[in-house]
This record gives sequence, C-alpha cells and structure tokens, in this order.
Amino acid sequence: MSYNLFLNLTLDKDLKIAFFDSGIGGLSVLAEALRRFSGAEFLYFADEDHVPYGTKSRAEIVRLSLDAVGFLVAHGADAVVVACNTATSAAISELRGAFSVPVIGMEPAVKLAADSFGARPTLLIATPLTIAGEKLARLVGRLECETWSLALPRLVEFAQDLEFDSPAVRAYLREELAKFELERLGSLVLGCTHFNYFKDVLHEILPPHVRIIDGIDGTLNRLASELGGGLKLACGEDLPSRTTKFNADGGVEFDTNSSAHGGKFDAEDLDAGGESVKDKSKQGSEGRGEGEQGKEGGDEQGAERCDESGGKIYYPNGNSVEYFYSGRALDAAQLRKVELFLKRLDAMREIG
Ligand code: DGL
Repeated sequence: MSYNLFLNLTLDKDLKIAFFDSGIGGLSVLAEALRRFSGAEFLYFADEDHVPYGTKSRAEIVRLSLDAVGFLVAHGADAVVVACNTATSAAISELRGAFSVPVIGMEPAVKLAADSFGARPTLLIATPLTIAGEKLARLVGRLECETWSLALPRLVEFAQDLEFDSPAVRAYLREELAKFELERLGSLVLGCTHFNYFKDVLHEILPPHVRIIDGIDGTLNRLASELGGGLKLACGEDLPSRTTKFNADGGVEFDTNSSAHGGKFDAEDLDAGGESVKDKSKQGSEGRGEGEQGKEGGDEQGAERCDESGGKIYYPNGNSVEYFYSGRALDAAQLRKVELFLKRLDAMREIG
C-alpha cells in the first residue's frame, strides 16, 4: 500500500529555505530535503545554546523560537520549516503572527499512522512538552485509533551527546517501551526529530510487524505546496523515494552510499587552516545575489564570501546549506560532525 505522496521538485534558485530545531534533530528533515529538492539554498539553525526544548516552559520556547526564526528571516529566509515538534507545539501561532514568510510546522504523524495502521494502537514518542501540549490533544482527539503516548526526554540528550546505539540507549528504550503491550501495536510515531537517529535500535526492540513513522515527508510536502508558485517538477530519478523501500518486502536495507550526501565533507574540502570549504559544486552557487550574507561584515560577493564563512556547504543537486549554531556559523570541526549526523540519518531513513 502506498500512503505517501512524494514530490520531486526543483526549487527556484533564488529561494532560501530555512530549517530550525533546538539541535541536531531537524537535520533529519534537512537531509530529506537535500534529496528531494535541487537548486535550493538552505539555512539550518540549531539552537545548541538552549537545547533541550522539550523540558522547558512553553513561554521560554516561544521566546527562543521567535529569536531563532527572527535570525533566519534576517538572513534572507523566504520560508521557515520548524523542524522541531516541540517548537511547533509551543510556538507555531506566535511565529506565524510575527513573521510574514511562510512558517511550516511539524506535527507528530499520528493521523497518518491511524489511517494506515489504525486497526491496532499507535504509540507516540515525543518530548514532555509535545506530549502535554493542547495541540496534540486536539489532534489525537479527532482520531478513531487508540493512541498511546510516551515522553522520552533522555533520548534527546543521548542524541545531542552523539550516543546513538550504546548499551545505555538500548537499556533506556527497553525499559520505557516495556511499559506498553508492544505486540498489540501497529505503529510507533516519532514525534521528535531527534528520535530519527534511533530508528535502528527501536526497530531492534519492537516486534517486527510494528511500523516506525516519522513526520518528515508530510512536512516537506507541505513546504512544497506552500511554495507552489516557486516550484517546478524535476526529473528526480536519482532521488529514490522512501515509498519504494517501504513497500518492498523483506528486511531493511541501509543505504550508506547515498548520492545525496556522499563525499561532501572530505578532508580535501577543507583548506590548510581547516577553516573554509571549497566550492565543489559550482552550479549551486552561480547566479545568486548574496545581499543578506553581506550583513555579516565582508565586502565579498557570492560563493567566495560564503566559502570564507566556514559554515556553508555545497551539495549535489545544486543545493547548499549554511549552518548556524544559535546564530554562529559552524567551524570546520563542527561541520565534520554534521557529516556524521547526515551519514547516520542516511542509514536510518528507510527503516519503517
Ligand atoms: N527535536 C525537537 C522535537 O522535534 C525537540 C528536542 C528537544 O529539544 O527537547 O521535538
């Protein structure tokens, strides 16, 4: 059964699309966008100074989210994807009220789970704030399907500590999930983008019939439709959709040789001082004005200026991403870590 519609689209070259999360969780959404779209200029903002959000008050998350999105809009974002279920739950109305660009939120895919596997209960895992939020209560209240929920705040900490499949992670997940009748489950919904790093461990612990569902495709489809006027269809044959893999019988195959991310952070991409990244994909930098970039201080123009910022990476398909941690451009060592995150996410993306 096919239950996702995938859009392989080419974004208008001049559009800047920003992704925002409390930390590295939103990279899972960005990673999929890098496969799905081409010719796009992305910004990524991880609020590393304030992660985790899920245990903070709603008022605090609203304030932090307004700051983050304000930064992205000041850096030229034409649309902002809140790649964080927690920030969406706490702050989406305030963000939409404060900024004129489209702000796309991220909701736990419980409706998709109910529509697809609703004959059995759904288990939603998310942060404490998302679980306690009115938004989720309204969403779940409209469903016929039995929906259980579980807050897993430590999983966010594990992810931020780059601890993805350690014995401690396994023990934590086993203990928490043991509170539920897992054999009865139809699906597990990942209601926090940080949880995408743990799909393999979750798959290991859950009975084999349980599907793992994230909200990434729905969010990107929404982004594509919000930006409808600026989009056109691309060939996209090199961008395999997850539907194909999802429908395939047999075991999960890890696609560790992804064309979308391979090789972009190789050591030779860094100059002798390890500070800048060469532009290996010139097509991604041509024809762009960098007016907003100039705000950061230099007279430099275009790709040259971006290379020196140290936080911008060019990808296949003519995409580029400029990365920020709470408003600071990433240095070379941090960019190498991002490479590791994207590689892990590549391995995780087809587990369902
Ligand atoms: N990644 C975020 C989410 O999707 C929140 C994690 C956190 O900061 O607690 O909910």
